[in-house]
Amino acid sequence: RAQPRVFSGIQPSGVPTLGNYLGAIRNWVPMQDTHEAIFCVVDLHAITVWQDPKELARQTREMAAALIACGLDPKRCTLFLQSHVHAHTRLAWIMNCVARLGWLNRMTQFKDKAGKDKEAASAGLYVYPNLMAADILTYHATLVPVGDDQRQHLELANDIAQKFNHDYGVEFFPRIEPLIQGVAARVMSLRDGTKKMSKSDPSDQSRINLTDDHDSIAQKIRKARTDAEPLPGHASGLENRPEARNLVGILAAITGTLPENVLREHEGKGFGAFKEVLVAALVAHLDPIRKEMARLLDDPATLDAQLRLGADRAEAVAAPICARAEEIVGF
Ligand code: ADP
Ligand code: NA
Repeated sequence: RAQPRVFSGIQPSGVPTLGNYLGAIRNWVPMQDTHEAIFCVVDLHAITVWQDPKELARQTREMAAALIACGLDPKRCTLFLQSHVHAHTRLAWIMNCVARLGWLNRMTQFKDKAGKDKEAASAGLYVYPNLMAADILTYHATLVPVGDDQRQHLELANDIAQKFNHDYGVEFFPRIEPLIQGVAARVMSLRDGTKKMSKSDPSDQSRINLTDDHDSIAQKIRKARTDAEPLPGHASGLENRPEARNLVGILAAITGTLPENVLREHEGKGFGAFKEVLVAALVAHLDPIRKEMARLLDDPATLDAQLRLGADRAEAVAAPICARAEEIVGF
């Protein structure tokens, strides 16, 4: 193989947000040239919590369009829908039988996502990390760009891979390394600077979606929580000011600079004025993406054909690896 193989997935569990863009999607774009890049809209993962079928279908297509509009080129990467490639579920079953209950019980994300009534959570949500392990390992991918929230799942995937290799006496699944890119842009909620901006949090509508036009971006940024202090000249002046730090971080990330530079330029400004600068920068950056998304969604036949082609390419890699795993197991 000429280039290392990287795998990443994103759930169609809502409209992609500015957080998904700055924290994940945008960083995937340059990988197309340096890696054999496999990107997947993980609709199987999405139904670990209830999804209205029509909404799921719509959001899945919308997510795929967003990824392309953000710069993933179906010719330069493998872009597809998880449910189209059956190796994911076939290998996930084997992973279910390799992973130990004790390992799953330690996953903090299950505890967060299941909420108060754990007994009412789906079994799928519980074994979600096993499917994630299968997603990566059925491509023998060795690199996975992850946010902090997924680190524990990646370690579990490695534990599963090692146990499989050990139990069956093979050196079949490679080790997976997390790919950590530059300064991790973590975008926080505009309503509460201590919570992340999330596409899948129904209780918080303050998020900026990639489908938002000028007016809704302006409205959301103007409503964003801040404090009465002006912008400091240095990052140390943002300590204990999570909302202020978040807005500075967003402007830095969207304009491709460091928070220090943003602060140097806007020192002493009030947030009223700063928010207008931020709105202009966001609109300038996101408007072409929004328009390209709309154009792609206007031509569903072309989009579907691109995703089918992506699934064929993914299948060609995944199916033989999955088949070999099944053979090792004794099927
Ligand atoms: P969400 O909470 O929006 O449903 P996912 O869990 O599907 O997000 O994550 C998709 C990708 O986007 C992951 O790589 C994750 O690390 C990244 N991501 C999600 N929210 C944010 C955020 N607020 N800031 C930065 N990156 C994020
Ligand atoms: Na998630």
